[in-house]
Amino acid sequence: MAETLGVPESGLVWTGSGTEAIALAVLGSARAAERRGDRRRHLVTSAVEHSSVLAACERLRDEAGYGLSVVGVDRSGVVDAAEVVAALRDDTLAVHLQHANHEVGALQPTHEVSVACRERGVLLHVDACQTVGQLGLTLGTLGADLLSGSSAKFGGPRGVGFLAIGDRGRVDALVAGDERQRRRRAGMEDVPGIAAAAVALTVATSRLDTERSARELVRRHLRARLPAAVEDLEVHGPLADAHPGIVAASALYVDGEALVAELDSAGVAVHSGSSCATTSGRPSHVLVAMGVLTHGHVRIGIGPDHDVTDADRFVDALTDAVGRLRAHTGLRRRPAPQETA
Ligand SMILES: Cc1ncc(COP(=O)(O)O)c(C=O)c1O
Repeated sequence: MAETLGVPESGLVWTGSGTEAIALAVLGSARAAERRGDRRRHLVTSAVEHSSVLAACERLRDEAGYGLSVVGVDRSGVVDAAEVVAALRDDTLAVHLQHANHEVGALQPTHEVSVACRERGVLLHVDACQTVGQLGLTLGTLGADLLSGSSAKFGGPRGVGFLAIGDRGRVDALVAGDERQRRRRAGMEDVPGIAAAAVALTVATSRLDTERSARELVRRHLRARLPAAVEDLEVHGPLADAHPGIVAASALYVDGEALVAELDSAGVAVHSGSSCATTSGRPSHVLVAMGVLTHGHVRIGIGPDHDVTDADRFVDALTDAVGRLRAHTGLRRRPAPQETA
């Protein structure tokens, strides 16, 4: 795995999840800097990060007095690298930026950001949980000093995360107590889980090119068909420069959770709302930051085995489900222009 991610074996720390790897990157790098007498206390992140990145950054802000600049995104969910660079200050310690957005698939300009970070001596942590094993990448190609990942996202077991650490990256353990993993994470590692993750990454990496183009075909097909099939539906995220396995859309006049249930009974599994906070009922912070419709939202994951026929089945199921829900709630579609005259 270290070879695939472009770090020496000593540069990998195993954790119990992507979330824990992210906490180690954000909190552990701050701790390491403080211990070395570094007085910089400012962080930059984006408004569309995974909740684990935002929570760790907010913790440093609220509990340790760090300044936190949260950069916004455009309507397709993309961060402007120039805005990140403009947010850098003399006391900026680190930038925490995702590679691909987990809800709408937008790829972020990590490399452009990394150039400015390097010039200014600022650490760059890239949350690559969505893309390790799905897009060809290494620490070097992303320009990252720290790279967090999660095994379940590329077909490995749940409960195995990792942080890849480059030459400039330093983290102090959040869980201390023994000398395991070069004192960067105490406690016994899940060795069978890690072995399974390594096999899964090898398999995913060997299929990368063919799978990427096959999924990209399905993604483009879905994006073209959805707005034509369902009235008052908005597809989110950029058309190009996007994760090949993510399509997100919102439909007016329907509730997202009701839509998920309706699709579930038709044998289709999708997410709604924030993909990792489905029980809170809050609208997704990602869609809010993008300024798009948050209501009636579904996130569709395209797996390596899905094809265009599956995509067509999905479009039919969604068209039926939206139709049934709109008929049930009595909410009418927007009148056509000639009807308003
Ligand atoms: C972009 C991103 N970061 C972090 C995580 C957290 O990973 P884990 O579920 O392994 O804690 C996820 C999980 O969905 C994610 O999509």
